[in-house]
Parts: sequence; structure tokens; C-alpha cells
Amino acid sequence: MATINSNFLKLKAGYLFPEIARRVKAYSEANPDKAGRIIRCGIGDVTEALPPAVVKAMHEGVDELANRSTFHGYGPEQGYEFLRQAIVDNQFANLGIEADEVFISDGSKCDTGNILDIFGKGNRTGITDPVYPVYVDTNVMAGNTGDANDNGAYEGLVYLECNAANGFVAAPPCDKLDLVYLCFPNNPTGAVATREQLEAWVKYAQENDTIILFDAAYEAFIQDSSIPRSIFEIEGARDVAIEFRSFSKNGGFTGVRCAYVVIPKTVTGKSESGERIPLHRLWSRRHSTKFNGASYPVQKAAAAVFSTEGKEQVAALIEHYMGNAKLLRETAQALGLQVFGGVNAPYVWVGCPAGLTSWDMFDKMLEEAQVVITPGSGFGAAGEGWFRISAFNSRANVEEVCSRLKALVS
Ligand code: MLT
Repeated sequence: MATINSNFLKLKAGYLFPEIARRVKAYSEANPDKAGRIIRCGIGDVTEALPPAVVKAMHEGVDELANRSTFHGYGPEQGYEFLRQAIVDNQFANLGIEADEVFISDGSKCDTGNILDIFGKGNRTGITDPVYPVYVDTNVMAGNTGDANDNGAYEGLVYLECNAANGFVAAPPCDKLDLVYLCFPNNPTGAVATREQLEAWVKYAQENDTIILFDAAYEAFIQDSSIPRSIFEIEGARDVAIEFRSFSKNGGFTGVRCAYVVIPKTVTGKSESGERIPLHRLWSRRHSTKFNGASYPVQKAAAAVFSTEGKEQVAALIEHYMGNAKLLRETAQALGLQVFGGVNAPYVWVGCPAGLTSWDMFDKMLEEAQVVITPGSGFGAAGEGWFRISAFNSRANVEEVCSRLKALVS
């Protein structure tokens, strides 16, 4: 009989969002009269249609595939040059990033999980708490942790607590990490790191030989021009950081799937014999072995995000979602709740009313207001007592959520 990867048995519950979906389904089945009233502000899934420039480019891509003379089969595993160059020109101009340091993929969730393929065992890995659960669960699956304790914290990971006192931005620890995951704008708290805070992290990484895994999936939502959008805006980051970016939340590609990883050729890790090896080389090998490229129409569509019309249309989408975030934030604040995020990020992070745990608040919102939120404790022990409201919705739904929240809490 085949043996299994027993690390999977260490995983606590199901993955957070399917677990929420399961609970919402159970509620809907038990309360069919209320099911039609449910508004979903749980998972951060976009709701608005793809930008017209993206749709047009995707149609053109399909039309090319429909003709033998313009047909494309397998593309380059790393992604088409036209997309990688458009990314560099539009997202990393003057930051020293080259098109061959960009790897196109089908999503940041996969990329942030798959990246562990190129790292060895025994790394001391830091994650913030609360955190996007993928970073934790993929480390568990890879065998980089022991068991979870009663708080759900896994032995072997270093948890960097984020809380109201530090504005949900962790400072570098005193001791040495080999790898650290940073996500800004942050999922779930919506916090952003200032230039000084990111400089401190890059300095720490240089001094401790740490690799920063920087998840910038939400960079398009940054409104404050003083906040860096990329870790590569920080001097020295090219030697210590990998950045993950996505078309999911800016271009609305959650159902289309396209993302990318930027790995400068100057970032290195150590082999067992102590030799410094460029991570770019390893990821290139991994990517070309396990991945055959994102589909051609999707890459055409992604490149259209950077066209003149595409940029205007994406800006309008961001403005729409950030308008929602403002309404949610101001409503929660007016109710006297503690609120973070929602200013440079599409997530509003709210303190639960006194006496309620995160899951209590989830149940109350679902059962009494038919609004789905995400319980903060689902993102880690430090998220207990908080809940996340996603601003990805129609304006009418967000206005309705605001009025239901007022009726529930006041
Ligand atoms: C979330 O709700 O946290 C996001 O949808 C997760 C993701 O993008 O995978």
C-alpha cells in the first residue's frame, strides 16, 4: 500500500474559505427563507466584470487560436515575452528588474505555496500572525513544522505577532530567520508598511541572510503615494527578496487566473556544501518542469491591463472597491468598533463587539444579518477578537451590509 504524506494529518481544520462556505451552505439549507438574503463579504473575491480592454484582448487571443496560421500551442514556460516586458515597463520601471526575472503563473496562491519546492528543510521561517493561511498550511504540508498546539500555532514556525499596538505591522525580530513572509497591503488586516518599516526589514534580511517572500497581490489598492508598492523600491532588496504579484484583484482575474513571481538573479540561497546558488536558477528549473505556462488568451488579456484603456478601467475598478472600503470602514468606526485597513487595501479589519469571539461574530452576522464575514481567528491566534470584511462587492450590497451592521451592533 502506498504511504501518504503524513504532514497533511497535522493540518488543523479544512482550509479557511471552504470551511466558511460549508457553514454558509449549512445555514442556507437550514434556513431556506433567509438564503436569498445572504450577502458575501467573506472571501476576497472580485465581483465586477472584467475590464472591457481585457475582454477584447482575450477574445483576440481566442480568435488567434481559432486559425491555423495564428495558432499557438505550448508557450514559453516562463510566460510570453510580451507580458513579462509589459510587467517590467509598467510595474518595475527603474527598479532594476529585467523581463527574464519575471515568471508568469496561474495564481499567487499557487506561487506562494510552490516556492517552498526550492528551499531545503530546517529553515527557520517567520510568518506574521494573523496571516494569509496559505503560507502556514503549505509549510505544514512540506514538513517544515511539527504539530499545532491548542492555539493552532505550529511548532517550528516563528510567529510575529501583529496587533493594534504595532498597527498590525511586525518589526523584524531580534533573532535570526532564514525565510520570512511579508504581505503588504496586508491580507487580512489591510495594514500597509511604510518605507521606513520595509527598509528595516531589508536591512534585517541583509544582516541575517534572510530571504523575504514579499506578497504584493494587493499593491494596486495603495492610495498613499508615500507607501512603497514593491519591495524592490527599497535599496538592497534585489539581493534578499522575491516578490509575488497577481492580476486577480486589480484586473479582476480571480476566475481567469494569472499572476507572476519576480526573482532577481542576485538573490541566493545556500547549498548543503555552503555554495551560494541563485534562486532564479532553481525556480526556473522548477517552473519549466512542473508548469507549461498560463494560457495564451489569458496572457494576452493580462497584458491588456497595461494598455491605456486597460489602466483607466482598472483604476475605475479600484476606485469602486475602495469606495466600498470607505463606507464599511466609516460605518464600523461610527459604531464605536476598532477599525484597521480599508484605506490602502480592500479589507477592513474590525474589532468584535465586547464579549464576542471572532467565530461568535461570524455566527451572529450570518444568523442575524445574513452577512458573511471572515473570522479573524481563522488567520491565526492573534486574529482572535477581530473580523475581516471584504470590500469586493457591488455598491448596493455594501450599503446594505452597512445598514445591517448598524442594526446589529447599535
Ligand atoms: C482572501 O479572501 O483572503 C483571498 O481571496 C484569498 C486568496 O486570494 O486566495
